[in-house]
Amino acid sequence: MNSEQRRKERQGAGALGQPPEIELNETFNPFRNDNHFDGAYEILKIILLLPVMVVRLLVFVTSLLLGYLLTKLALFRATNVLTSPFPQWRRSLMLPVRLCARVNLFACGFHWIHLKGRPAPRHEAPILVSNHVTFADPLFLFFKHLPVIVTAYENLNLPIAGAIIKAMQAIAVDRISRTSRQNASDAIKRKAMCNDWSHVMIFPEATTTNGKLLISFKAGAFTPGFPVQPILIRYSYVHMDPCWVAEGPVIYWLLFRLMTQFHNFMSVEYLPIIYPNLAETKNPQMFAERVRLTMARAMNTSVTQHTFEDATLAMEAVRLNIDSGSALLEFGEFNKISPFRVKDAKRCLSKFLTMDSSKRGSLTFEDYIKAVNLPNCSLLQQVYRYFDRTNSGCISFRQYAVGIAYVSSHLRFKEAVVAAYNFCGGEENDLPDEPTLLRSLRVLIPSVSKQQVHLLFDRLDVKKGGILRLADFASYCDENPDFLLIFLIGKSSLL
Ligand SMILES: *[C@@H]1O[C@H](CO)[C@@H](O)[C@H](O)[C@H]1NC(C)=O
Ligand SMILES: *[C@@H]1O[C@H](CO)[C@@H](O)[C@H](O)[C@H]1NC(C)=O
Ligand SMILES: *[C@@H]1O[C@H](CO)[C@@H](O)[C@H](O)[C@H]1NC(C)=O
Repeated sequence: MNSEQRRKERQGAGALGQPPEIELNETFNPFRNDNHFDGAYEILKIILLLPVMVVRLLVFVTSLLLGYLLTKLALFRATNVLTSPFPQWRRSLMLPVRLCARVNLFACGFHWIHLKGRPAPRHEAPILVSNHVTFADPLFLFFKHLPVIVTAYENLNLPIAGAIIKAMQAIAVDRISRTSRQNASDAIKRKAMCNDWSHVMIFPEATTTNGKLLISFKAGAFTPGFPVQPILIRYSYVHMDPCWVAEGPVIYWLLFRLMTQFHNFMSVEYLPIIYPNLAETKNPQMFAERVRLTMARAMNTSVTQHTFEDATLAMEAVRLNIDSGSALLEFGEFNKISPFRVKDAKRCLSKFLTMDSSKRGSLTFEDYIKAVNLPNCSLLQQVYRYFDRTNSGCISFRQYAVGIAYVSSHLRFKEAVVAAYNFCGGEENDLPDEPTLLRSLRVLIPSVSKQQVHLLFDRLDVKKGGILRLADFASYCDENPDFLLIFLIGKSSLL
């Protein structure tokens, strides 16, 4: 490759340039339960344990309802439940409820739970952080600490669990709203600072994973700059992986499987308290990262940049009936190139799936030109290679999303849209019509057919007035940023 070619390659889409290379872990999916339902032994065991399961289920339901009634009692005539600490007598009333949680774990086959390390007293480490695998983790932590948790607002209205969460004097947060997140952050600080409250307990991953790696930590637990005690919860299993994740058993099946096991293993390890240094009190993300790496080392595992947003995408993938691993973007890494949000990613995924006519989970060049309905020519090949950076002949969703996210969030995106629009208008001063668009496009793609331009024009001309308006052109580019690449790559002097 000579230097001229290399320069061109680097320039990619004219003035917009190529998206930077980002490291995206393609193989690991933290939201998949790798449990295999392996045949005869499992079925035999389930049949054998069915009577045990019935007893366990009865115990579970009874203890749940009892716990609920006792919680209602503990909350009797309580005011300002979420804002002022309970007196000791009210906390004592919660003691039997905590035992109910332990009974529930017992009913799920967690007969004994292996403890390691020393839980630190409240005044030494006001904040607890733990990895999050399944519903059993909060049950255990509730039993052991009756902590103040941070939870989504809507959980306060859950049937039974809502009352219990209130009794934990939870910090409720609306994850979408910025002010609510700020409020929650203030509340974490306020409650952690004062020893009248219980421990503040946070799952910094903000979602469940299969526990094999640690995903990104949200900074919430680390913003106050107080000492934290990390907790590691592990489930060792042979037949039944208890993780509750996007691609895995639904909660009822999970409970059923757990209750038809002889025994389920759970171990909880309290790591030594971690104190933030001066730099880390000013930079919570840095503190979060050190705690995360300490936990990963203790778990003998590594970390990824997946976030709560990826868990949402995994759920979307399951809903669309595709492999959830192929839909993950590793948002923590991805957001370095673009402020892409979950809703953008979902839109991108659904577009990718409509283009993927062969349903292979990747786009070949043939799929691509068929989807955009343009001829096979060297320009379209270049546009395709903008996504297929490794020249492998197929584009994965991740590669597609990287290109789309980079272009659509580029600072000069709007400017590029106007330039491309002006290019379509040719030399004329009037708004471009179909013959003008045909003439302009033929400059870039000589082999484009009248029929193809007709269909394209039809999609662009939303109001069906026979003219191409800038607003329509711009909204088409918003939805199909790859369309803009045809102009940017085809005419490098455009910007
Ligand atoms: C945040 O807190 C302020 C004052 O404490 C309150 O007025 C506001 O409604 C809260 N906002 C949200 C979204 O919870
Ligand atoms: C840590 O994990 C590696 C493989 O991931 C394994 O070979 C090694 O034995 C593990 N070490 C401990 C102490 O468990
Ligand atoms: C596109 O054209 C090239 C040659 O110009 C050819 O090798 C390739 O197979 C064509 N691809 C498709 C999908 O038609």
